[in-house]
Amino acid sequence: MSKPTLDEVVALCKRRGFVFPTSDIYGGLANSYDYGPMGVELLRSIRNAWWTEMIHKRTDMVGLDSQIMLHPETWVASGHVASFSDPLVEDTVSKKRFRADHLIEAWLAKHPEVQVGAVEDMTITEMGAFIVERKVLSSDGNPLTEPRTFNLLFETAIGSVAGEKAKVYLRGETAQGIFSDFKQILDSTRVQLPFGVGQIGKSFRNEITTGQFVFRTLEFEQGEIEYFFDPAKNAWEPLFQEWRDYMWKFVTKKLGVNEENLRWRQHTDKERSHYSKDTYDLDYNFSFGWKELWGIAYRTDYDLNQHIKHSGQKLEYTDPFTGEKVVPHVIEPAVGINRLFLMVLTDAYWKDEERHRIVLKLKPELAPYKVAVFPLVKNKDEIVAKAKEVFALTSEHVRTAWDERGNIGKRYLSQDEIGTPVCITVDYQTLEDGTVTWRDRDTAEQVRVKIEELVERVKKLR
Ligand code: GAP
Repeated sequence: MSKPTLDEVVALCKRRGFVFPTSDIYGGLANSYDYGPMGVELLRSIRNAWWTEMIHKRTDMVGLDSQIMLHPETWVASGHVASFSDPLVEDTVSKKRFRADHLIEAWLAKHPEVQVGAVEDMTITEMGAFIVERKVLSSDGNPLTEPRTFNLLFETAIGSVAGEKAKVYLRGETAQGIFSDFKQILDSTRVQLPFGVGQIGKSFRNEITTGQFVFRTLEFEQGEIEYFFDPAKNAWEPLFQEWRDYMWKFVTKKLGVNEENLRWRQHTDKERSHYSKDTYDLDYNFSFGWKELWGIAYRTDYDLNQHIKHSGQKLEYTDPFTGEKVVPHVIEPAVGINRLFLMVLTDAYWKDEERHRIVLKLKPELAPYKVAVFPLVKNKDEIVAKAKEVFALTSEHVRTAWDERGNIGKRYLSQDEIGTPVCITVDYQTLEDGTVTWRDRDTAEQVRVKIEELVERVKKLR
């Protein structure tokens, strides 16, 4: 299947109610998008699939839902206040802001004869020198300011407390809620090392880069796992590999993504976050290049030790058999649910040249609607009444669309574009023999099926 351009995906999303620009009536808000009637269903399916596979199907995982605003000391302890930043430059004429590393990458792509190491490894001073030496300009063609670090944390204030202490941050990652609740999870459950805590929730980053649709937004959903273990009892490498395999399996088997569009990339020493001993990104080949989808890092005992230092609390695990105490290490698989969403849509987008249609070849489990029910005509009362009976029957078991407008061919094409795997049509023959047409999205083939068989058939699409 040929890859759609980002513009084609954006157009489908807007046209068919997957994603809309936020506050469109006011001209939009940078890097912010709303999920429409179809998008909210797809997002929910992906989120649920993650939760089922990562939490429910494992004996060693529990879930959590911590707050978006945590005690501000959390972010001092985690290192985000000091060093959670991007290199920012400004266009000296238009005053527009850009990420220095992104402009350098774009410049290098246009000058393949210039060989430098990975841009991720450059310090901010090196980026500044490169911009001056190579005369890198903004995308509007104007000179740039010196790069400076720009902290990505959003600040806000709690109204009921006066003074400096009222300052809080919107979380920049969900992970810190897991670390700060670590002791309460130990005290309230019977978990034993190795075990993990998973959480899905909104995170916020003051991103400078624009134009990457839902790939990079100010507000986004993360699915993060902190997998705690005792390094004296479990070597980190096999656990790390097991999680990498599990992530790969989830994306290919549960989300149905083509393996050819996926790759692993190990972070270089310079690029790796301060807290990590090893990091890999699972990248997807988007139409705008290979980009990080899901990261996995060996964060050691860095975070728990930082919180021990800053809170003065004992964040240790006590072995229930030996009484030995240990500050566990963690492996952290962290994904953006919205990036999974964009990947799933891009991967499923199929331009069926033969039948002149666009099809979202979504796995049935992920599709916003599993079936659509149509009365062949809307002016024949018996047909409409029978179709409503069929709708009532299938919607007891799966999300079902109803459409009685326009010719049947157009209704099929409309469902193909939103990925509905099956369309059921009630027609004149239904009134005679109790059968309906069952039309497959991908092959467009139609067979006649008895109404009594529908429930068993639609249950397979869940
Ligand atoms: N706790 C580790 C952590 O937050 P990260 O690589 O910064 O690591 C994890 O983020 C995942 O969150 C990324 O792999 C990506 O999928 C997603 N993500 C990060 N920033 C994002 C943004 N601005 N918009 C959408 N998703 C984002």
